Amino acid sequence: TSAHAQTASRFAFTPIAAQTDGTVHVPEGYEWQVLMRWGDPLFSEADGYDITDGGPVENSDKVFGENTDGMETFSFQGHQLIAINHEYPNRKINLPAAQEGVPANADDVRKLQNLQGVTVMEIAETPDGWTVVKDSPFNRRIHHNTPMKIVGPAAGHDLLKTEADPTGTTSLGTMNNCGSGKTPWGTYLTCEENFNGYFGSSNESATYTPKVADGFKRYGIKAESWNGYELFDPRFDTSKNPNEPHRVGWVVEIDPTDPNSTPVKHTGLGRFKHENAAVELAKDGRIVVYMGDDERGEYLYKFVSNGVYTPGGDTEGLLDDGTLYVAKFNDDMSGEWVPLTPETTGMDEAEILIFARIAASEAGGTTMDRPEWVATSPVLAEAYCCLTNNKNRGVKPNAGGDDTSVNGPNPREANKYGQIVRWRPANQDHAETSFQWDLYVMAGNPTVHSDAYAGSENVNEGNLFNSPDGMMIDSTGVVWIQTDGNDDNEGDFAGHGNNQMLAGDPITGEIVRFMTGPNGCEVTGLTWSADRRTMFVGIQHPGGSWPDGGTPRSSIIAIKRKDNGLVG
Ligand code: FEO
Ligand code: CA
Ligand code: CA
Ligand code: CA
Repeated sequence: TSAHAQTASRFAFTPIAAQTDGTVHVPEGYEWQVLMRWGDPLFSEADGYDITDGGPVENSDKVFGENTDGMETFSFQGHQLIAINHEYPNRKINLPAAQEGVPANADDVRKLQNLQGVTVMEIAETPDGWTVVKDSPFNRRIHHNTPMKIVGPAAGHDLLKTEADPTGTTSLGTMNNCGSGKTPWGTYLTCEENFNGYFGSSNESATYTPKVADGFKRYGIKAESWNGYELFDPRFDTSKNPNEPHRVGWVVEIDPTDPNSTPVKHTGLGRFKHENAAVELAKDGRIVVYMGDDERGEYLYKFVSNGVYTPGGDTEGLLDDGTLYVAKFNDDMSGEWVPLTPETTGMDEAEILIFARIAASEAGGTTMDRPEWVATSPVLAEAYCCLTNNKNRGVKPNAGGDDTSVNGPNPREANKYGQIVRWRPANQDHAETSFQWDLYVMAGNPTVHSDAYAGSENVNEGNLFNSPDGMMIDSTGVVWIQTDGNDDNEGDFAGHGNNQMLAGDPITGEIVRFMTGPNGCEVTGLTWSADRRTMFVGIQHPGGSWPDGGTPRSSIIAIKRKDNGLVG
């Protein structure tokens, strides 16, 4: 038993036990409801959209998309808006008639493309609970064919040009969006993660220039795609369009208040498998964006703008003109942000951004155990990153051949549980290039292991979890942790139960379980209503038949205290 057991809990709720069933659990005194499920209409035109056979292609761009992930709320002129992304399709559910979920025709491809991307929607609280305002002028679907702009230092580079876009400054759609972020000027950031799987080649022996081939290798672009888009949409066929993959892997900015606005891809934030974008202001008003690259042995990044943000002022360039850094963690608990420049990488400025991974290797960053969400604290000058797990740690190098022996914040070989690293910037200023770090928690299982796999001292029989992934820190400083891990509840994972959401105290390290999801799901995406009395949480790819007893449907739920008090 740890010292923490004797101190009073920070939390006003009674933590819940691990669960293994097919529904959602919250503490006593709390209640939850489903706000929106994939396939639910955003416009009355799509009323009656029938998902039972995977849903028709008609109106598939007018319903809430699949696999809800990073989300943010916005208040605008008395309206409450949610912007939320849709990571990837559940092909066996969305295309039940297709063999193994591989599209059989162009309509199948179009349907998958429509069910992904981003939704913006207006929500309202009524006496019967939260509801989506159907036909609100703010409602919008952005999908894999929505026109976008490419801006920043790499825009217009030869590696971004295609036959359809000889300027290299426009692109269609955003894909495999994972986490999210929010700017101080009220826009939504959505982050392109595992984009590689969307590309394939109709010609297995197609050859590429050495630069393109090196990039394909490092980013995992292969002749075989996951979704079979290239069979019916040549844009995704790399033998015909070798530069198309360079137009994905960016952070995309969307103005949720203007449904006619064109989404913008910011090349200044680098191209990698972006998890989320945690935006902070430096002491002098420069913009700081922390970003993880979620792959085994890849890196943690930070962008610092040259320009300064002033409320109501011009924000042009604040996400593009600046310096991209890679994190280097030293074993003595210090760390530094190494700038990715021609001097540190031997690469030119545009290629540093297009092949940020290669630049980070050249600059000598620290290989990480899959950086998922970064969260910064509104009350303390500190930031946290979920390092979800890494079976390859100490086992084999990353895709760039970088050494992945155990190191300071990634101390366990074949790491199956994950940990959360925390850093405090020098002078309490996120623009500073040096920091001190520690591990906020190492997940584990003290009922099965007595070595490092037992986990850190703040892990106990009552709060077991693995694979921290989503994370947000609320306005009181509570660290909310969501998991995307093994939910077998057996062996190494005995007592962990289903994926879940926990609340952590940043000072004492106390961690308690707040919510559990249905079996098979990942819990991802978290935001609050304007009055902070409702918490919106995403349930992605549930198993079984949640939430209605029929086809399982990824959904957003709203969690409230029954007495309408503040959540947490
Ligand atoms: Fe889409 Fe890294 O989670
Ligand atoms: Ca994630
Ligand atoms: Ca994950
Ligand atoms: Ca996921």
